[in-house]
Amino acid sequence: MSDMQNGREAWASRIGLILAMAGNAIGLGNFLRFPVQAAQNGGGAFMIPYFVALLLLGIPLMWVEWSIGRRGGQLGYGSAAGAFGALVKSRGSAKLANYLGALGISIPISFAIYYTYIESWTLAYSTFSVTGKYFGILDRASMLNFLQSFQGVTNSEHFAGFGTAIVFFLITWALNVYVLSRGIAQGIERLAKIAMPTLFIFAIILVARTWTLGTPSPEMPENSIINGFGYLWNPDFSQITKAKPWLAAAGQIFFTLSIGTGSILTYASYLKRKDDIALTGLSTSITNEFCEVILGGSIAIPVAVAFFGLTETKEIALGGAFNLGFAAMPIIFQKLPWGQLFGAMWFVLLFFAGITSSVALCSPAMAFLQDQMKMTRKKAAMVVGAVLLLCGLPVIFFLGHGFLDEMDFWAGTFGLVVFAMIEVILFAWLFGMKRAWTEINEGADIKIPGVFKFIIQFITPVYLIGLLFAWGVQDGVPVLLMTGKPSADVPYLWGARLMMLSLTVISIVLIARAYKRGTIRDEVAPDLRG
Ligand code: ALA
Repeated sequence: MSDMQNGREAWASRIGLILAMAGNAIGLGNFLRFPVQAAQNGGGAFMIPYFVALLLLGIPLMWVEWSIGRRGGQLGYGSAAGAFGALVKSRGSAKLANYLGALGISIPISFAIYYTYIESWTLAYSTFSVTGKYFGILDRASMLNFLQSFQGVTNSEHFAGFGTAIVFFLITWALNVYVLSRGIAQGIERLAKIAMPTLFIFAIILVARTWTLGTPSPEMPENSIINGFGYLWNPDFSQITKAKPWLAAAGQIFFTLSIGTGSILTYASYLKRKDDIALTGLSTSITNEFCEVILGGSIAIPVAVAFFGLTETKEIALGGAFNLGFAAMPIIFQKLPWGQLFGAMWFVLLFFAGITSSVALCSPAMAFLQDQMKMTRKKAAMVVGAVLLLCGLPVIFFLGHGFLDEMDFWAGTFGLVVFAMIEVILFAWLFGMKRAWTEINEGADIKIPGVFKFIIQFITPVYLIGLLFAWGVQDGVPVLLMTGKPSADVPYLWGARLMMLSLTVISIVLIARAYKRGTIRDEVAPDLRG
């Protein structure tokens, strides 16, 4: 592999590509979101809808997104705007497909906007662990106060300083922009080569530490690691008769694998025509799952049960991922010998998981600006950086009004399902399943079982439609109308929606300009074979 092909950037090595793709997928979702989702949705029983979603949505969509990306890259398109149009057979529908591709730019950048802020908390807390800043705060309520004062949501005696949060956000932002400005091989790939092995080593050390904890306080033998694993893994089958865990499991699969974000499509666009995607796509998914189920599932929740007991851990899990990662874990580190070191490892691990995902989420916008707007990489990084910064401000300042949560729902949950549905329909139905199957298998290092042809064509789209339908029936109207939200928050939530909508409109306008410049052409499903 070399750094350039057809005037576009390329991955420098296969191992670099695999690590970057793994970094794209492995993120805060694996270590914070997954354990909380599992604990909230039936523990062991959650794994049934989870693995069903992995098999019928995750892995098939992974191959779909890799294929669309690799194909788009050959034609000079690094995002869905361009890559989508090249899948359909008539000019009119190619145009429509390319305009729908705007979502493949606006959804991931919206995702990156709030994700980068959370990522910056992990960087801040790494430093707090090293300096011992939160040491001495020994109960959860006070630790939550510390977090909230850091986030600028409340004032508290345990003052962490909102100014500190802003400084760490700026550092995280600058690091992201720097990596993006260095490009695919020198930026993203090099980052992954450092971050991913470090992440794995730290995670394995933390898992080993968890396993050897046993029963931290002998006077409370029920608070043990074994009971912690039991809480996460003993199935509560009554839960999976409801729609909620199925929706939650599918949502987690999308979030954790980064499918439906368009970022995998962009990374795949830097492949060569004959590069394998069947095995590499599958390996990425398996690596992510190992990191999520085995490593992510073995740290936060089991240690919380060992130190806080079952009842309190349930409360923590209900309080959400931040409660677990930033309020419960810092208390636990104080009770461990070498706690500052373990605390630092946990938060550095989260930071590396975060940054390798956030640069990926910015990459569709980067690729579009470079390929279609003909910007230099540095200029594109400056534009993407400006968007992250400007749109990051309301996320930071209106956090307490639910601004971040609103973005997380539309860009980090709902939008992914919608975008994935567009992808699979375009690929399996408009491009045609026969050609789609040939495309997936082009250069393949493994033989994909034929049943996946059927799954991609029928099961995955029906599953996605079912999910949207179930969501529409169960939550659609109240979510759209913000029923039950505090009235003081409603204007902010509309603000978040308006911001994401504006990013989509801007993407559409830019696509129109790309058409004018001739950098997007309606090619009518060109055949790339031969
Ligand atoms: N896939 C990324 C994560 O799990 C977004 O956090």
